[in-house]
Amino acid sequence: MSQPKYYITTPIYYPSDKLHIGHTYCTVATDAFARYKRLQGYDVMFLTGTDEHGQKIEDRARDAGVTPQAFVDNIVEGERGVLDLWKLMNISNDRFIRTTDDYHVAAIQKIFKKLYDNGDIYKSTYSGKYCKPCESFWTESQLVDGKCPDCGREVQDAEEEAYFFRLSKYADRIQDLLENTDFLEPRSRVHEMVNNFIKPGLEDLCVSRTSFTWGVPVDFDPGHVVYVWVDALSNYITALGYENDRYNDYADFWPADVHIVGKEIVRFHSIIWPAMLMSMNEPLPKKVFGHGWLLLDGGKMSKSKGNVVDPYILAEMFGVDALRFFLMRTFPFGSDGNFSNELLIKTINTDLANDLGNLVSRTTAMVGKYFCGKLPGNCRSWDAPESFDIEQIEMASALRDKYQAAMDAYAPHKALEEIFKTIARANKYIDETMPWALAKDMEANGARLAHVMYNLLETARICGILLTPFMPESMEKLFDQIGACACCRTWESAGQWGKLSEEAAPTKGENLFPRIDAEKALAELEAAAEAARKAALPPLEIEPFAEENVDFATFCKSDFRAVKVKACENVKKSDKLLRFTLDDGSGTDRQILSGIAKYYKPEELVGKTLVAIINLPPRKMMGLESNGMLISAVHTEKGEERLNLLMVSDAIPAGAKLC
Ligand code: MSP
Repeated sequence: MSQPKYYITTPIYYPSDKLHIGHTYCTVATDAFARYKRLQGYDVMFLTGTDEHGQKIEDRARDAGVTPQAFVDNIVEGERGVLDLWKLMNISNDRFIRTTDDYHVAAIQKIFKKLYDNGDIYKSTYSGKYCKPCESFWTESQLVDGKCPDCGREVQDAEEEAYFFRLSKYADRIQDLLENTDFLEPRSRVHEMVNNFIKPGLEDLCVSRTSFTWGVPVDFDPGHVVYVWVDALSNYITALGYENDRYNDYADFWPADVHIVGKEIVRFHSIIWPAMLMSMNEPLPKKVFGHGWLLLDGGKMSKSKGNVVDPYILAEMFGVDALRFFLMRTFPFGSDGNFSNELLIKTINTDLANDLGNLVSRTTAMVGKYFCGKLPGNCRSWDAPESFDIEQIEMASALRDKYQAAMDAYAPHKALEEIFKTIARANKYIDETMPWALAKDMEANGARLAHVMYNLLETARICGILLTPFMPESMEKLFDQIGACACCRTWESAGQWGKLSEEAAPTKGENLFPRIDAEKALAELEAAAEAARKAALPPLEIEPFAEENVDFATFCKSDFRAVKVKACENVKKSDKLLRFTLDDGSGTDRQILSGIAKYYKPEELVGKTLVAIINLPPRKMMGLESNGMLISAVHTEKGEERLNLLMVSDAIPAGAKLC
């Protein structure tokens, strides 16, 4: 019998910045579903990739001084780029598409032409706002305070020739699809789509641009590039070979079983994408699932806010599997959730180190200690089971079905909750059966003790199988430690109590999930976050320019002179002030106090020729009189204020006037 097929996708990422924990959340979730389906015996196609076109990428590349292709290549293939991150996170995608791949570009041109030939794309004018100096078109909503978001200058109304897709034509069919089928989940997203976008009237969609060039060219009308979402959404079929010869899996895998997407892009997947497919007469995906966001302090993570959480740092500190597990265990998949390092550490310590880790290490250690690592035959059954034996066995035996129901409902957090209830039950079973007491008289209780051990190992085995999609590497270690052979690591065997061989030879191995010292880890994370915040700050900031002019006569009143430092010392009891004794050319020493002790050691300034304004009124500081002010240049670098005293050539005599 041929294997049933299953096609699952994640959104393809904009490589405009490095990926953060929010992106990782989505891909880890999809990976867990893909692994779950493989475990069940499906022939899975799991697709991810990168969405590399559009104005934003073009702009970012220009800012970086490289070509758009070089820019995206670096973020996708470069060190700690998208590919590196998915490898680190153990993402098991079967295919990776880049929208700059030749086969995809050619297929997009055919898809665009197909929509055009079907009469669903027509030419019209796109009206928006235009910034002349930047030569950029903007929509009303992209403006910042009504001005160009790039340069801050005034924009003007303008029109651009563009192609439009007849989205409005499909409004009724899409409303029906959303309201009367389970195409889109969770259900709450259906109301959002229908009420916010369809009922107010679905407008035709602008699907080509002429104001930038980094996109798939419309081959029958040079100067136009295809709208980035038409390009991006089509990846789900071009990656299977639709309108190209690179792959040949369309017939096998389309329609997709599910597109997993974040909530802000549900609109594109549940309205525009089905309309495009309807226009091309292709089957619709079976489901779109819109998951929630990981929030930080209640808000969305973003590079500009400097509050992105780096998955590399977390994976390196806590381990890939622990991080994957935390993401899926903690946040209900369809809703938003607040990420915090405290929660991450608490979850790892409670669930993994305490509950699961202890269950495995205590059990394997006891088998080693009481039975030299080998249980006696007949340990599977026991003639006079206690109520807690029955409860433990029943709970573990029923686990797979409960887990399956939760996973099939896209509720991985519930599936994990069921597993951890079973693990908690098993730890309680140890307290109830008191193996250490039984072990005091092995002759009388050895068989009973062996049965208790078997029940614990069997529970760990079943939980281990069901945890594999979430923590693939650690569960392999768990199986090795409890002595589970290949045939009792399968999906089928997870539904069968008693599959673990009585011949199994458990061994206590390395600690699967070491306990984390929360205080130390939090301090390290805070230091790493601080370094990242600093790195994200603009490299150089200068004071804004004065808006008001001064008239020349006022300017001339300021008397700037070259002054030579005769002596310089710290002012007692002040950590800010330096006291300067200066030769100003008048024959009498001038004293100036300056709050720059943070930037200079007094001795390094002696002999220098500086600039001072000398006709400010005298001012007392720390009981000393200051007659004037030394001129310095101030700017901010990576968030830190820098100050440089203005020093001029020593050839300039003391008292020379600056004008
Ligand atoms: N390129 C488009 C997708 C095109 S699919 C045909 C895109 N890319 S993205 O890089 O901006 O986002 C990719 C995915 O990451 C989206 O599903 C988005 O919801 C998800 N996330 C980005 N930040 C997130 C969180 N903070 N939390 C959870 N998911 C988030 O959109």
